[in-house]
Amino acid sequence: MERTLIIVKPDAVQRGLTGEIIKRFEQRGLRIIGMKFMQVSQDLAEKHYDVHRERPFFNDLVSYIVSSPVVVMALEGTSAIQAARGTIGATNPAESGAGTIRGDFGLEIGRNLVHGSDSPENGEIEVANFFTDDELISGWNRNTDSWIFE
Ligand code: RTP
Ligand code: MG
Repeated sequence: MERTLIIVKPDAVQRGLTGEIIKRFEQRGLRIIGMKFMQVSQDLAEKHYDVHRERPFFNDLVSYIVSSPVVVMALEGTSAIQAARGTIGATNPAESGAGTIRGDFGLEIGRNLVHGSDSPENGEIEVANFFTDDELISGWNRNTDSWIFE
């Protein structure tokens, strides 16, 4: 089982798309192990986007993620990273296919609605950055699991 951190970014929350976005991951079959509504602090934003620190868009990226509350989710599943990124779509919404979250709801790279971890290693790290152990319910089972996981 892989873990991915999903962030429903400020633009998506402001636009009332939180439920629509959660629904898509739920329908995909990923199992929720943590979820909360929160204001990301400057420190946490800089830590989360540390790999982009030297990029020209870093300050805009951090400003965007702290600009208004977000919903964060920790999701678990086989191929959770790849599956979630497929559901999210390409980084630039203009290049995202219809049927993806960014392709259905976005136009610009700096307002791309949702974050998903990019590797199993980063999924573990990012979930730990956003959730304490007691905020995660890992190892629970859904009655549908055997119809989703072979
Ligand atoms: P994310 O981390 O948010 O899931 O997005 P991603 O993997 O598809 O894209 P990544 O390369 O990790 O970039 C992180 C976020 O930075 C913003 N960005 N802006 N102006 C630009 O060229 C540019 N490139 C990236 C986007 O908001 C992207 O989600
Ligand atoms: Mg990324």
